[in-house]
Order: sequence, then structure tokens, then C-alpha cells
Amino acid sequence: MTREEYYADSYPRLREAQKTLETIAEEMKTAVDPHEDLQPIVYYCSRIKNPESMQRKLAARGLPVTLESALCRVYDAVGIRIICSFASDVLSVVEKLKAHPAIEILEEKDYLLHPKPNGYRSIHLCIRLREPDLRAEIQVRTIAMDFWATLEHQLKYKKSIPCEGLIRSELKRCADEIASADLSMQTIREIIKQM
Ligand code: GTP
Ligand code: MG
Repeated sequence: MTREEYYADSYPRLREAQKTLETIAEEMKTAVDPHEDLQPIVYYCSRIKNPESMQRKLAARGLPVTLESALCRVYDAVGIRIICSFASDVLSVVEKLKAHPAIEILEEKDYLLHPKPNGYRSIHLCIRLREPDLRAEIQVRTIAMDFWATLEHQLKYKKSIPCEGLIRSELKRCADEIASADLSMQTIREIIKQM
């Protein structure tokens, strides 16, 4: 089933919300200090959740597998991921999003301050867009955190994982090393800036 078929009459609103989020991200990406060499936002990508994964998520949550649930009970029918250079950029982008007039923050999940047990780091904002009036999810993380999340995500689709414990503990170690490298990079950047 295509997204158009699944989301039916709501599909144009979802597309509109996706475009609004992209416009917000693009404005934040381009409105940078010209003296800054490293852009706070490196790139962003958005998507409308595919029907299969939406249905799987609703079923897993014990929610009715209906369009109403997809749009009103979960946040991520529409989602955008914003990738930043440094951890400090993640925080400043989140602050700007919180202050943005087109966005109402419903919930913030700070997996930077409180990483998931597997090592996942990112800040998630569950939001309501004012126009079109729709829920959406914004994920903000560094390039390095995104690199990790992309690899870790591949485990989700494996039916059996040989040496699973070892792979997961290596991934956890990499996540922690990445967090530490992100902080070192930020410190070095501050030192270079002051030269
Ligand atoms: P789902 O995980 O989508 O069921 O939603 P949730 O309500 O648990 O929200 P959460 O904020 O935990 O995660 C939402 C999204 O963040 C996911 O769909 C993924 O895109 C991403 N995410 C969350 N946790 C992980 C993780 O451990 N690894 C990776 N690679 N991505 C994650
Ligand atoms: Mg989850």
C-alpha cells in the first residue's frame, strides 16, 4: 500500500506538515553567522512514516490500528531529523525550535542527558504544528550520533543476530566513545575559535 492510499484524505495535510518542517529547518540552516566556518546544521531529512511501519507500531503499542491513532495517538507520522556538527549545536537548535512560533512543544526526550541503555543519543521533540494542525516528531543529533544510530538501526530488522551480546556491547562502547569524541571536538573547536 502506498502512503497516499494509507493516509488517504489526510495525506495532503501530512505533506504540508512535512514541507513546513523542511522550511523551518532550511531557514535555521541558512540563517547562520557568516563568521562561523562550521555550520550548526549540516543537513536534515524528513519523511512520512510508511504504512507497514505505522501499523506495526500501533499494534505493538496496543492501539487501534486506525488512521485516527496514526495521526492523533503517536507523534511520528511526519518526522524530520536535523543533523548538527557539534553537541552544543544540537542544544542551540533545540532551543531555537522551542522558541519557534509555528511549533508547540508537547514533549521533549533528552537522550543526550539520558542516553538509552544501548547508547542511543539524540534529542527528540514531540511537537504540534500550528498550521497544518498536526503532530510531528523532530530528532536532533550530531553527525557522529547519526552515524551510530544508522548502524544500530540495522539490527532492528535482523531475525537472528549471532554473538548478539558482543555486538550490542561493542555498539554501546562505540556510542560512549562517540559521545566523548563529540565533546573533545567541541573543546578543540572552542580553542581554535579563540586563536
Ligand atoms: P518508536 O521507537 O518509534 O516506537 O517511538 P518511541 O515513542 O519509543 O519514541 P522514541 O523517542 O524512543 O523513538 C522514536 C524514534 O527515535 C525511533 O523511531 C527511531 O527513529 C529513533 N530511535 C529511538 N531509539 C533508538 C535506538 O535505540 N536506536 C536507533 N537507531 N534509533 C532510535
Ligand atoms: Mg522507541
